[in-house]
Amino acid sequence: MTTAEPLLVPACQSAGLIAADLDDAALIDALGKGRIVILKGAFPEDKMIALREAAMRWALEEPEFPDGRSPDETPTRNYHRIDDGTHPSAFPHIFHQYGLNALDDLPVYFRDPAGAVTAVMTDLQNRVAQTNWDVSLEGLRSKILHYPRGGGFLTKHVHELEPQRVGLILSLSRVGIDASDGTTFETPAGTVDTSEHHDIGDVVLFRYDLPHAVEAVDPGVPVEWEADTGKWSFVLELRENFRRSRATNPAE
Ligand SMILES: [Fe+2]
Repeated sequence: MTTAEPLLVPACQSAGLIAADLDDAALIDALGKGRIVILKGAFPEDKMIALREAAMRWALEEPEFPDGRSPDETPTRNYHRIDDGTHPSAFPHIFHQYGLNALDDLPVYFRDPAGAVTAVMTDLQNRVAQTNWDVSLEGLRSKILHYPRGGGFLTKHVHELEPQRVGLILSLSRVGIDASDGTTFETPAGTVDTSEHHDIGDVVLFRYDLPHAVEAVDPGVPVEWEADTGKWSFVLELRENFRRSRATNPAE
């Protein structure tokens, strides 16, 4: 199968917003052509480590969302849940998910880092997708996904292009230290594997209708649910849009 390379773009934060070496029009053009863009260094490493540590602390304090019920039934409630693959899902996966439905209700130690990252990511989302979403029940919400070493994964799937248009994945894990595998995308130019390039603080941008998957993270070791190792992703999603996503091959 043909492989292709992501477009790596140095970035930083300026006045609280992400500034990349390419302007927004150039990013939009690359995304429209199906390139996978990685904004390198968009967030500082120490902030990313602090955010995932806050998530893990909260998971110890907050009871896990019960299996067998959909978190969509309680859309204003923050929740976390360990999905270990024992329950059937339209998107087979193994990860610990954190659905941040009401940032203001989180304890301060989690609300502040999660809220700061959400604000910066929302601005970026709207710039590269040319949209005007806010963080609300009808708009965007933040999710953190922790794919543990020992087999965390997400099956290949696609989203509708509209209305979100562009997907953002911020990495909270260090290449070569926390995890050995990453996300793959099927693009018009071939398969793009971001494992080597998507380091902590980098944001992957992708056209939302490109099939993508998270390969099994270090499958040869016992699963490490309680360790902060593994692959960590911070994503924004439109709630409606997520429900209309589908696995590309549900039999997989
Ligand atoms: Fe996805």
